[in-house]
Amino acid sequence: MAKKDQLITGVDIGSHAVKVCQLQRSGKGYKLSAIGSALLPEGAVEDGILQEPEIVGKAIAALFKNLKIKSKRIGISISGYSVIVKKINLEYMTDDELDKYILAEAEQYIPFDIEDVYLDYRKLPTSSKERDRSDLMLVAAKKEVVDDYLMMLDELKLKTVLVDVDGFALENIWETSSKTGAEQQNIVLVDIGASKMNINIIKEGISVLARDVVVGSNQLTMQLANTLDIDEEQAEQIKLGAISPGEHQDLVEDIFNQTCTQWILEIKKAVDLYQANNPNHPLSALVLSGGGSKVAGLVDYIGQETGLNVISFNPFETMKVDEKKIDRHYLDSIAPEMAIATGLAIRQAPF
Ligand SMILES: Nc1ncnc2c1ncn2[C@@H]1O[C@H](COP(=O)(O)OP(=O)(O)OP(=O)(O)O)[C@@H](O)[C@H]1O
Ligand SMILES: [Mg+2]
Repeated sequence: MAKKDQLITGVDIGSHAVKVCQLQRSGKGYKLSAIGSALLPEGAVEDGILQEPEIVGKAIAALFKNLKIKSKRIGISISGYSVIVKKINLEYMTDDELDKYILAEAEQYIPFDIEDVYLDYRKLPTSSKERDRSDLMLVAAKKEVVDDYLMMLDELKLKTVLVDVDGFALENIWETSSKTGAEQQNIVLVDIGASKMNINIIKEGISVLARDVVVGSNQLTMQLANTLDIDEEQAEQIKLGAISPGEHQDLVEDIFNQTCTQWILEIKKAVDLYQANNPNHPLSALVLSGGGSKVAGLVDYIGQETGLNVISFNPFETMKVDEKKIDRHYLDSIAPEMAIATGLAIRQAPF
């Protein structure tokens, strides 16, 4: 295979698990060649910060070994308080002028000292009414937080060639895998992880609202543990339906209902804000991903409450799969939480 076709390996380091995905180009699409995840102990990654580099490093090394991944070029994504994503609107400038402007003026847009962050931006297509203006998506990530990840990966002899943001990786894989016309649609992407929910609303191919909310599936585990007075491991098993809650069935259902209702309120806040500002661009679907989205009945519940068509995201639906190595049923069951790793894995490795 020509080197320019080489794709990077996606490594999504979440608070609950590390997910790894490797794709190859196949015709106009992709073929999945390796996929896997490894659980992390609680506290190893917290609020997007790498707290236990050794433990996380071991988990990643073991995954690469088990999956027989030889390539060293990887992409990771970050999220949480240490990364700021902001859309700004400026008067039109050339690329050179923009570079200079961002360096000089970024400070007014972000709450961190400019010395302490890595800065990046991308130009957004500007609406035809505003030819004299440019829209930018500015990203600022705390150096110390990013560097902790880079150092840990460096120790593993991995070469990190991409540091993305969770929400962008998700947006990329949605646009790639939704067959046609994704750029004409208005959709809500919602990723419910263990400790955070990422909401990203895409209008005609452009992100117009992006936020992280600190809710997630771990809430369910904690509440089950507290209410039933059991340890977290048991609570997790009850949550996943692996152990029956017996006489506590009703209590468990109450906890699920309350927590999912809270998630939906957060989703509705974002959707309502979008709809108020964009009455002529109705949303056509809500696309759900993340392990937390696998709560039984959640897809229907969100559909009822928002009136939107809710899709459980399977990024592999339109891909070929190496069926000798990867079981389709297993793949379907893990697809939602693999979305971000897959969004990293579609990126090309630079030379
Ligand atoms: N069927 C299920 N019902 C409810 N929760 C589930 C189910 N399957 C997995 N989960 C939960 O999903 C979470 C893991 O999802 P995911 O891998 O997306 O999280 P993460 O990326 O590690 O977390 P974060 O992005 O918040 O840091 C865990 O809390 C796990 O218990
Ligand atoms: Mg995640």
